[in-house]
Amino acid sequence: QGQRRLYHEAVHDHFNNPRNVGMLDKSAASVGTALVGKASCGDVIKLQVAVKDGIIQDAKFKTFGCGSAIASSSLATEMIIGQHVDEAFKITNKDISSHLKLPPVKIHCSVLAEEAIQAAIGDWRKKHEAVNASA
Ligand code: FES
Ligand code: FES
Repeated sequence: QGQRRLYHEAVHDHFNNPRNVGMLDKSAASVGTALVGKASCGDVIKLQVAVKDGIIQDAKFKTFGCGSAIASSSLATEMIIGQHVDEAFKITNKDISSHLKLPPVKIHCSVLAEEAIQAAIGDWRKKHEAVNASA
């Protein structure tokens, strides 16, 4: 019962007060954008990172989905801001779901957030390499 209350408090905190909701300039060379979705439930996460010298300076998200996906995205942005992209890339859905105390049925919501982090960094890397190659 204690664990259940903890889950609710943690999720509701990020659900009622999601951090870093918004958008970054998709066209900027320093910005990586991810759009990931789960066909099984129709939820979609858009997550963006702004990177300078390999460090994530800012992150924003928009999630069209369930409360757990919003909470997972909110927590994900909080975790990665200030991190090196190589560190952020290693964040797993377990880091997110255990922090939020997600029940098994909601684990896939945190998987979506993990995929979003990796896809956003992947998009930034592609742009970054293209810029370096043309320099
Ligand atoms: Fe349980 Fe919102 S009702 S997390
Ligand atoms: Fe599908 Fe949460 S129920 S992302």
